[in-house]
Amino acid sequence: LRIAVLGSGAGSNLAAIIADPKLRAQMVVTITDQADSGFRQIAQAAGVPALYVDGGANTRRLSDAAQKEIYEHLERARVDVVVLAGFMRILKEPVISAYAGRIVNVHPSLLPKHKGANAPQMAIDAGDQETGCTVHLVTAEIDAGRILAQASVPVLAGDTAEKLHARIKVEEHKLLPQVLNEWRERGLPVRGGKGLS
Ligand code: GRF
Repeated sequence: LRIAVLGSGAGSNLAAIIADPKLRAQMVVTITDQADSGFRQIAQAAGVPALYVDGGANTRRLSDAAQKEIYEHLERARVDVVVLAGFMRILKEPVISAYAGRIVNVHPSLLPKHKGANAPQMAIDAGDQETGCTVHLVTAEIDAGRILAQASVPVLAGDTAEKLHARIKVEEHKLLPQVLNEWRERGLPVRGGKGLS
């Protein structure tokens, strides 16, 4: 399994994948839209190719040029699986179709609850007693692709979004490598499959 990881932030999920020697051995490239991110530093420190792509002026969207650049990097590295680990811009074509069924994202809520940014705060505001994380397939619709795995954590009295998010991340760091290892051992669910949701 040739793995690419895309991220924008602290990079703790990237670190969790790198910490697994079998997954580390299959990681062929990382791509970030944040040149100075923890994500990029972790990739560099681990000796994994750490590419930077200028995403463009809109911090939520990728420019068409950036979408194309990412696609070309993935093709050049002959990537099988694209992992979104805190990648903060929305992936679109041509990547979404070319890698349909082979792009996974980790999201800090029990989807379909609390889609979008600030999911830990949303769980607190909703008065949920429990939230968690979800690993799901990425489709054009945000946080809506098929759910592959979930883990839950309690919401505790006095939780801030930061404290809750930190508790969620502990589970993400187990769940994401677990899903990737299942794919590594059993093969991709559908190779190059289209029309998966
Ligand atoms: C994670 O909580 C993930 O669920 C969300 O972004 C965060 C990334 O954290 N999509 P990190 O950069 O892996 O530390």
